[in-house]
Amino acid sequence: MQMAEFGAIPKGGCNRQTLTDDDASARRSFIGWCREIGCTVEVDRIGNVFARRRGKHDGLPPVLVGSHLDTQPTGGRFDGVFGVLSGLEVLRTLEERGIETDHPIEVVNWTNEEGSRFPPAMMGSGVWAGVFDLEQTYATTDKAGRKLGEELKRIGFMGEREAKPKPLKAAFEIHIEQGPILEAAGLNIGVVTGIQGLRWYDLTITGKACHAGPTPMNGRRDPFLAAWPILRGCYELADRYAPWGRVTFGDIRAKPGSRNTVPEKLEISVDMRHPDPAALDEMDTQFRKLVDAECRSRNLAGDVSELWHMPATQFDRSCVDVVRDATDALGYSHMEIVSGAGHDSLYVARVAPTSMIFVPCKDGLSHNEEEYAELEDLARGANVLLQSVLSVASAE
Ligand code: GLV
Ligand code: MN
Ligand code: MN
Repeated sequence: MQMAEFGAIPKGGCNRQTLTDDDASARRSFIGWCREIGCTVEVDRIGNVFARRRGKHDGLPPVLVGSHLDTQPTGGRFDGVFGVLSGLEVLRTLEERGIETDHPIEVVNWTNEEGSRFPPAMMGSGVWAGVFDLEQTYATTDKAGRKLGEELKRIGFMGEREAKPKPLKAAFEIHIEQGPILEAAGLNIGVVTGIQGLRWYDLTITGKACHAGPTPMNGRRDPFLAAWPILRGCYELADRYAPWGRVTFGDIRAKPGSRNTVPEKLEISVDMRHPDPAALDEMDTQFRKLVDAECRSRNLAGDVSELWHMPATQFDRSCVDVVRDATDALGYSHMEIVSGAGHDSLYVARVAPTSMIFVPCKDGLSHNEEEYAELEDLARGANVLLQSVLSVASAE
């Protein structure tokens, strides 16, 4: 709740988008809390923050835990934050109990997980894992035209550490589920086996601007004439690939954006997801055909540019087992679950054995100011994280 004061907004949530002053304040608090318990802190070239607690054998590869502190424009208090602060809580607990682990433990706050200000999402972990180029990422602009690299410098978080992975023993990320499954099943813990695939597109439909009054309806090259059947067709596509197909248009802009001008152009963000790679590929093909057909028949130009493809991820079986065994040992009820949301763990999983832990959240709601999770559920999750870390942090 202290973290939620940074970027607090009226309905109880947070607007702490990446690399804003509020993000900087959140980062500084986190770093302060980590230093209070004796951690050393390093920041890498893309602003990822790593707080490290020494191991008994400090040269051994660390166990990595953590998530992100940035939020959606109208985000909640738990998405990401719970994962970072649970990592801190694990370290505090070890300190309080005087427990030394063989392997060091690092808690990470990844830069720009949300991707709402600077797309795509999971940028910090993506650069770190070698999926995104650092210089290109610095050049990414927000809607106001500000460059990511400049914002990183401005808030004082362009660090010295190379944005590259060092060997890791294992990595765990805990997160609220952000969906309704655990709550509906009345279960304590989701043992996450993987993350569904996702594609992000910029769909641009271009017509011809003209006056809203004198121009007859039937003479117009109005991009909405194609947008309407395309959007409907995409919802039908999600239905065809139900129950897992997902399509979202989260950001639609008309250009020039004037009430009495038929827009020249519509810019529509498209988020498409499915856990089965073949199904996601088919959705992709059908979406492109739909745009082509609907624009062509109306003398409009349709352009689909894919800005991100995040293939479905399967987590390391032994890490999944570690989480399930820890959950069992604590006597908590659980089920295996595939994440509907993307997480930094999908890039971490490319370089280290990784898995995730989910806890239920109220009404399955996330990316909403009302996002909420019960303290008991969060505490159970943090205990699973602690026991998972302990079970891998000792040298066999
Ligand atoms: C992350 O928040 C996502 O878009 O899945
Ligand atoms: Mn998140
Ligand atoms: Mn999120």
